Amino acid sequence: MADIKKYRIGNPIPTDSVVVDMEIMTGKIPFLTINENDKTLSMKLEKTDRVYGLGETVRGMNKRGWTYTSNNSDDPVHTEDKRSLYASQNFILITSVYSSCSLGIYVDTPGKVTFDIGYTKLDELKISFEDLDADLYFIEGKSPLETVSAFRHMIGRSYIPPRWAFGFGQSRWGYKNESDIRRVADEYAKADIPIDMIYMDIDYMERFKDFTVDEEAFPEFPAFVSEMRENGIHLIPIIDAGVKIEEGYDVYEEGVKGDYFCKKENGEKLVAAVWPGQVHFPDFLKDSAREWFGNKYKVLMDQGIDGFWNDMNEPAIFYTEDHLAEVFEKLDDYKGKNLDIWSFFKFKDLVGSIANNDEDYRRFYHEYKGQKIRHDKVHNLYGYNMTKAAGEAFERLCPNKRILMFSRSSYIGMHRYGGVWCGDNQSWWSHLLLNIQQMPALSMCGFLYSGADIGGFGADTTEDLLLRWTAFGIFTPLFRNHSALGTREQEMYQFPSCDIFKNLVELRYALIPYLYSEFMKAVLEEKMLFKPLGFEYLDERSAEVEDQLLLGDSLMLAPVYKQNASGRMVYLPEDMKMVRFRAWNDYDEEVLTQGDHYVKAGLDEVLVFIRKGKVLPLADIERSRNANNNSNVSAAYSGLRSGDVSVTDLKYICYEAAAEDYRLYTDDGISRI
Ligand code: GLC
Repeated sequence: MADIKKYRIGNPIPTDSVVVDMEIMTGKIPFLTINENDKTLSMKLEKTDRVYGLGETVRGMNKRGWTYTSNNSDDPVHTEDKRSLYASQNFILITSVYSSCSLGIYVDTPGKVTFDIGYTKLDELKISFEDLDADLYFIEGKSPLETVSAFRHMIGRSYIPPRWAFGFGQSRWGYKNESDIRRVADEYAKADIPIDMIYMDIDYMERFKDFTVDEEAFPEFPAFVSEMRENGIHLIPIIDAGVKIEEGYDVYEEGVKGDYFCKKENGEKLVAAVWPGQVHFPDFLKDSAREWFGNKYKVLMDQGIDGFWNDMNEPAIFYTEDHLAEVFEKLDDYKGKNLDIWSFFKFKDLVGSIANNDEDYRRFYHEYKGQKIRHDKVHNLYGYNMTKAAGEAFERLCPNKRILMFSRSSYIGMHRYGGVWCGDNQSWWSHLLLNIQQMPALSMCGFLYSGADIGGFGADTTEDLLLRWTAFGIFTPLFRNHSALGTREQEMYQFPSCDIFKNLVELRYALIPYLYSEFMKAVLEEKMLFKPLGFEYLDERSAEVEDQLLLGDSLMLAPVYKQNASGRMVYLPEDMKMVRFRAWNDYDEEVLTQGDHYVKAGLDEVLVFIRKGKVLPLADIERSRNANNNSNVSAAYSGLRSGDVSVTDLKYICYEAAAEDYRLYTDDGISRI
């Protein structure tokens, strides 16, 4: 059992991320040296220490060698020079193959905090704060997995989605109306590619107003939802954080009447702008506002909706009325002048300062636990509490049924109410690798129902990138292809390799018994779903592998993430059975010995490595299909759905193990547990 100690510095604002009551230790803080003057905590890192964690951030699995700032940011360019993405998950794990202790540190503070992990000095970890107020948890375990499990126990059980959310989902910003969505369903049916979800981006709303549906585009929305449901497809609408300011719009008017919106120092409501134009931000930190906003999801649930994604909840700010006015005023200084290069840069910075400006996050306040608190002090809790609003409402509104929910912005604690997707990535090969590297860190922090936009959100994808990314995406719980308005259309049926995509997605469906079992065991037993190799294999070589990962108890994955590669080097920490899938029922098995191997992997192949003594169960897609043919799914859409995937009569691929060695988890997939 790991040993956990809690210390407090200053007077931290509570985040409710930890669910276990713990005594606060007095006396000197262990491990870290506190420097009150520069508001830092620091410790020496040994040469062989590796530092993991921080959830959704840039760079590799071992976070050493960079500075990461927890400051939830709407930044769609996730290059390795960035310091902040959409999430703040302040848990790190320091481990070394030469030490008998894996130390977990959780820095629980809702404001900006920076982790300099061997950036300024190679051998130093320095955590710096704007205000030196935090609850610090030190978790000492004998192994990385023991430490992570103790941490996960401390922060409470991860969110469980309905089982159908393990199916495939197609999304794109730009599906404007019923016929656009029907076309997606039809094309997937024609290509005979399984699908369970079609996502509805902001286009479904009436002028981007939350909890409205554009009546012209969807004249009979409930009927349309149920038509799709009858065909086995769930429609998953987006909900944005900002509420459009518009007289006569009920959500706006209720928000004003109930005093649910964030206000400035002078008591006026903050006016910001996001997709709908000018908006107010609901004060999700205020109990009454959270309850009110949560209840609004019912508007769509009453029309048959059973899943949502929460977006723009850092919150993203295109501009605030106040800052925009300041910018316009300053622009006069530049008008009509012959700008030298420095003035030009200043001018450019001024215009560039309009969106997501730090100053703007200091302009408004929350009513949090009976106190008025400036937004920047609790910035990282905003998306968390938006999702908590939804999660709490779902428990109230449908206590027996699971609802799909994931969010863009997050903080630890939110993992109890929903998963995350990794935001606006790009159709870059480097972002496929980033996706691979983010998954274990998300698992550490409890965000199990997670994934990235497959194929990439921004920029134009390529057929080979989408194939390789899908070949990895079939293993992530959230398996969604999503892309931005104006980019190349990237639904699988747009490409000549349609048959390969069909094989890949069918393989995903055949893997659902394994994926769902491993997911549920990870949730219920507080384990990681994705792990770096070094968490199981405690040798130096395994510890350095950054582009392979373990999935659940049985599998190692080594995805191909480079363009024009016909294979890759793979390191096997022990003998393993490599299974080369071309389809769920077309594969070869080969035992490879411990060590380095070059393995071929064509664009139409998926490699999985079964660990020694382990088992991979596979569903029989043909039998599942026949079950579906007997069901009431209309012929026009006939296709495989996750609900058809049979969990009996599974096939088992074993490596020095027997089928009975596999612990299959099943439930009805929809009741809350
Ligand atoms: C944000 C989201 C993206 C969505 C877009 C339009 O950029 O991250 O997924 O498509 O907004 O709603």
